[in-house]
Amino acid sequence: MAHIRTGTFNGVATIEIARPEKKNALTLEMYAAMAEALRAAESAAPVRAVLITGQPSIFTSGNDIDDFMRRPPLAPDSAVFQFMDALRDCPKPVVAAVTGAAIGIGATLLLHCDLVYISDEAHLAMPFTSLGLVPEFAASWALPQRLGAVKASEKLLLGDPFTPEEAVELRIANAVLPTGEVVNHARRMAERFNTLPPAAVRDTKRLMRRAGRAAVQEAMAAEATLFGQRLAGAEAQEAFSAFFQKRKPDFSRFE
Ligand code: COA
Repeated sequence: MAHIRTGTFNGVATIEIARPEKKNALTLEMYAAMAEALRAAESAAPVRAVLITGQPSIFTSGNDIDDFMRRPPLAPDSAVFQFMDALRDCPKPVVAAVTGAAIGIGATLLLHCDLVYISDEAHLAMPFTSLGLVPEFAASWALPQRLGAVKASEKLLLGDPFTPEEAVELRIANAVLPTGEVVNHARRMAERFNTLPPAAVRDTKRLMRRAGRAAVQEAMAAEATLFGQRLAGAEAQEAFSAFFQKRKPDFSRFE
């Protein structure tokens, strides 16, 4: 698939988001390709880890807003949910190289990766409320868990961005690296799984996620219902129209 490049080298299955002209915004076809690549990595014995990466200066700007308006992901078998389920349930370690800005699901997907390395020029943002939406991918549960409630409120209610250093301090990322080094560093870390016994790694990952598993599933289901409602709502329509008209949204008429 043109905008999702995949390949396996030295035990690492790489998923590269490559749509720089639209800031790596994710369409349904791109979600489907990423879900398929994750499932293929899961069943391919030579693959010991997965690496998710983007383009210089942009990891992903999140959901493609135009695609979202035209083809809202409402059905449970939507490619968006297939991708989320595949990443959440991936039994092998997933390493993220955050090459640039990671917005919306670009940031929330990091909560489901095992190791996260971030460029010193990147930033993260979860601006769901300012888009008239609610969080997805269990961020409404996982972020207060990681950051504590008041810090999570800054990020999810106000939509304040994270600097790379803050992402490390707040336990979203492992380390900040110069932009030119982030992919190679993340790849080296992913390749370390080639020297470890794979079943022990898989069992350890499963144990580490065991306690939160039901809560994550429950949060994703609750979020999906509200996200679908919000997506069809007038607040989101105003936010999305404003984005494409390159103006500030006006929410003053809403109650
Ligand atoms: N969905 C659809 N198109 C998007 C997009 C998205 N999430 N993010 C960027 N684009 C498109 C822009 O419409 C623009 O297209 P055009 O060249 O046809 O006008 C192109 O990508 C470049 O984006 P632009 O906004 O001009 O780049 P920038 O460098 O000024 O800003 C971002 C980059 C990522 C900060 C900005 O594009 C942005 O905020 N995007 C939306 C992020 C978002 O809200 N994501 C959550 C979605 S749920």
